[in-house]
Amino acid sequence: MTSERAAAPGASVRAARKDDHVRLALQQREGRSARNEFDDLEFLHHALDGVDAERVDLSVRVGEWSWATPFYVNGMTGGTDLTERINRQLAIAARETGMPMACGSMSIAIDDPSTARSFAVIREENPSGFVMANLGAGRSADDALRAVELLQANALQLHVNPVQETAMPEGSRDFSGWLVGLERIVEASPVPVVAKEVGFGLSRRTLEKLRGIGVRVADVSGTGGTDFLGIENSRATAADDFSMLTGFGQSALACLLDAPADGPALLASGGVRHPYDVVKALAAGARGVGVAGAFLQTVMDGDAEALVTLVRGWLTQTRALFALLGAENAEQLASTDLILRGRLGEFCRLRGID
Ligand code: FNR
Repeated sequence: MTSERAAAPGASVRAARKDDHVRLALQQREGRSARNEFDDLEFLHHALDGVDAERVDLSVRVGEWSWATPFYVNGMTGGTDLTERINRQLAIAARETGMPMACGSMSIAIDDPSTARSFAVIREENPSGFVMANLGAGRSADDALRAVELLQANALQLHVNPVQETAMPEGSRDFSGWLVGLERIVEASPVPVVAKEVGFGLSRRTLEKLRGIGVRVADVSGTGGTDFLGIENSRATAADDFSMLTGFGQSALACLLDAPADGPALLASGGVRHPYDVVKALAAGARGVGVAGAFLQTVMDGDAEALVTLVRGWLTQTRALFALLGAENAEQLASTDLILRGRLGEFCRLRGID
C-alpha cells in the first residue's frame, strides 16, 4: 500500500517502501506463532455426513462472478524490479491454476508511469484470467479509471487501511474524506469495486457503510496473518512507534460471523495458512478466500512452479475436506455445525452472535 496523503512522498521513497514491505512481511513469518483465530473454529464431527469427493464442485460465486477456485492471490505488490518479478511469478501461477489474482496498490504507477510495467506484467502473463486492480481509498475516480485500464482489470480492489496509515511514519492522519472518496470511485468505476482492509478487519458498521455507498463485494481481511502494524513499526522511530496498538482489530472469522445479512458479498483473508482455514472461512460465510503472505513466501522461496504445485495440493485437500464435511459445494458448507472457542468464541458472545 502507499500513503494516500496529499503531499505524497517521492517516488524513490515509495519504491523503497514496496521492497521493504515484501522483506518485512517475509521476515515476520519466520518464528512467529502459527496460532490464530482460525484455530478457535471447529466443526462438530458427523461421521456419516460425508459425500463423494468426485462430486465436489470447488468453484464459487462471488456476486456476479464465478471463480474456478475458492481462493485467490490477494493484493500485494508492484512498483519496483523486485516486485515486478514477484507479480510475474504470481500471475503465471494464477494462469496455470485458474486462480483470480489482485495486484498491490497502483498509486505508484499512476504517479510515476515508468513503474507501470511492474503491474502490466500481470495481464501480459495471464491475458484471460480474473485480475483485480488495487488503489487506496484516498485516490480520485480518475486514478481508479487509469488503474483499471492499465490492467484491463475485471474488478478494482480499494483498500481501506487506517490502522496501517496510523502506524506508517509517512502515513495519512486525515481519514475524514474516505467514505465520500470511496463513493465517488464506486460510481465512476467501470468494473465492480471490492472494498478491503489490509489485516485489521471490517466491522459490521463498516460493512453497513460500504453497502450504503453501493459496494457489493468486500474482503474483511482480518488479523492473525501479515501484520502491518508490526511491519510499519519496524520502519518507525521511537517518536512514531505505534506498537501499543498490537492486537488491534478483528479476525476474518470474527468479521464474517458479525457481518450484516444484507451487506456486501464477503471475501475473507488475513492469516489463511492452509486449506482447512479456507474451508472454515467459507463455512463462516465467505464466498471466496484471499491469500497473500503464504503465497508470497512460496514464490520467494521457489518460483511460479512451486506455487502451482502448492495450489494444486490445496485444491485436492480442499476437495477432500468438503467431502468429509458433507458439502458438494461451498454453499452447502453453510449447514455445517460450528463450535467457537477461545478469543473468537468470546467475541461472538460479547457481540450476541449465536
Ligand atoms: C499486502 N497487502 C496489501 N493489500 C492491499 O490492498 N494493497 C497493497 O498494496 C497491499 N500490499 C501488501 C504487501 C505485502 C508484502 C503483503 C504481504 C500484503 C495486504 C494483503 O492483501 C492482505 O490483506 C493481508 O496481507 C492479510 O493477508 P495474509 O497476508 O495474512 O494472507
